[in-house]
Amino acid sequence: MKVKVSRKAHFNAAHRLYRKDWDHAQNEAIFGLCNNPHFHGHNYELIVSVTGTIDPETGYVMDMKVLKDLIKSEVEDAMDHKNLNIEVPEFENLNPTAENIAVVIWQKLRKHIAKDMDLEIVLYETPRNFVTFSG
Ligand code: NI
Repeated sequence: MKVKVSRKAHFNAAHRLYRKDWDHAQNEAIFGLCNNPHFHGHNYELIVSVTGTIDPETGYVMDMKVLKDLIKSEVEDAMDHKNLNIEVPEFENLNPTAENIAVVIWQKLRKHIAKDMDLEIVLYETPRNFVTFSG
């Protein structure tokens, strides 16, 4: 019997979407406002879900305090109030789209989650746009 448990989190961050190897016109055509050279910010909403079996002793799939602390140390401390392009090493050569941010968050958390559990990341970049990555 598998149960999915989820924790919500939030961070603000700035980014710019562009490719160094494209000229301005091509970046403008593909990334539009997100190519603003002065960066812009988003209020990211994050839902981290872990799916596994219930521990018969505790009744937990995973201690949510542990998950909360993991999100704090791996995601919030690294990304909250940061410029993703400049201050977060994973995006030095990777466009910080919602898709790529979700994959980076998944990779950072995956190594701390028990191997027999599934991990899913849902990341809202705006209230209407969100992406899902589960490996
Ligand atoms: Ni943006």
